[in-house]
Amino acid sequence: MKDITILAIESSCDETAAAVVRNGRTVLSNVISSQIDLHTLYGGVVPEIASRKHVEKINQVISLSLQEADLTLDDITAIGVTYGPGLVGALLVGVAEAKAIAFAKKMPLIGVHHIEGHISANYIEHPDLEPPFLCEVISGGHTHLVIVRDYGVFEILGRTRDDAAGEAYDKVARAIGLGYPGGPKIDRVAKEGNPEAIEFPRTKIDRAGRGTLTYARGSRETGPYDFSFSGLKSAVLNYLNKCEMTKTPWNQADVAASFQAAVVDDLVDTAMRAAEDYDVKKFAIAGGVASNSSLRAAMQQACEARGISFYHPSPVLCTDNAAMIGTAAYYEYLKGTRSGWDLNAVPNLKLGER
Ligand code: KG4
Ligand code: ZN
Repeated sequence: MKDITILAIESSCDETAAAVVRNGRTVLSNVISSQIDLHTLYGGVVPEIASRKHVEKINQVISLSLQEADLTLDDITAIGVTYGPGLVGALLVGVAEAKAIAFAKKMPLIGVHHIEGHISANYIEHPDLEPPFLCEVISGGHTHLVIVRDYGVFEILGRTRDDAAGEAYDKVARAIGLGYPGGPKIDRVAKEGNPEAIEFPRTKIDRAGRGTLTYARGSRETGPYDFSFSGLKSAVLNYLNKCEMTKTPWNQADVAASFQAAVVDDLVDTAMRAAEDYDVKKFAIAGGVASNSSLRAAMQQACEARGISFYHPSPVLCTDNAAMIGTAAYYEYLKGTRSGWDLNAVPNLKLGER
């Protein structure tokens, strides 16, 4: 069979990324230009700055990705690009670039869902992994538990009712003086702390979907595999306030470790409950928080105890990158998915929608 080589572009948040992926699972190049240093000054991602930086970087990043793959645009079969969800101005830069290249070189254009990309990151280093499997997507903007029925076909079992897990990491990190980006910093500092020092609340939802989701916003009924992290975030903030008011010193590493223990417990418990209910044999994690060392260790143990094969991408493929978009685009290409010249950025694109 002829090789299918995808040039993929990702610009949904604060990384400008391009990659070349051959036949879905062979990454020929994976270039990421991070804007983290720039946004750190402001304590979080500033959308307008992100868009401007994408415009500045995107051509260089694409050139470098072709150069590292030792290819030219003439060797590319199709262009894959993230078109949602994400920051609208940031997404538009990637979408416009992808359309321009595809139009000029007369090649197919494939709009990719960012979360489908995160899930697909698991295919890159695990040649044996094929659907169906259960996947927990844990990023800065999303926390989803999904059954991947087939390539690009998802059944959503649960999602967060309020904050995403990564968002909670980032907010708590700011509150305890670690700054942005919170996840990797809490991951590091927590290693020095006692995870049992402070007992932060766990979200308790039973199989009927009843439970103590006391802080969750919104009116939709809670499902048995939903998540909630804003209550935990509030509990950390309340703890810090109480310490301030009573002039009690608090320990940064202990707060980080205790917060992380609560997040990890919730993520592991919910995933394993679903794995048992659906009799799952393969379980994967994806998204920025999936690079968390404590979470990976806990998931590994929980899966081993149940005879479930556990999959996770390398940290660089967990956080935003274009290789994962190239892999997702490949499977969409095989299914015949093609986007038109009217492809637009869709900031709140739902998983499974096109
Ligand atoms: O998937 P991602 O790069 O972007 C989104 O699609 O949102 O995820 C970014 C999120 C941020 O909230 C960041 O703090 C978190 O992933 N993160 C981590 C770690 N590395 C990144 N959270 C916990 N532990 C980490 N090691
Ligand atoms: Zn992401």
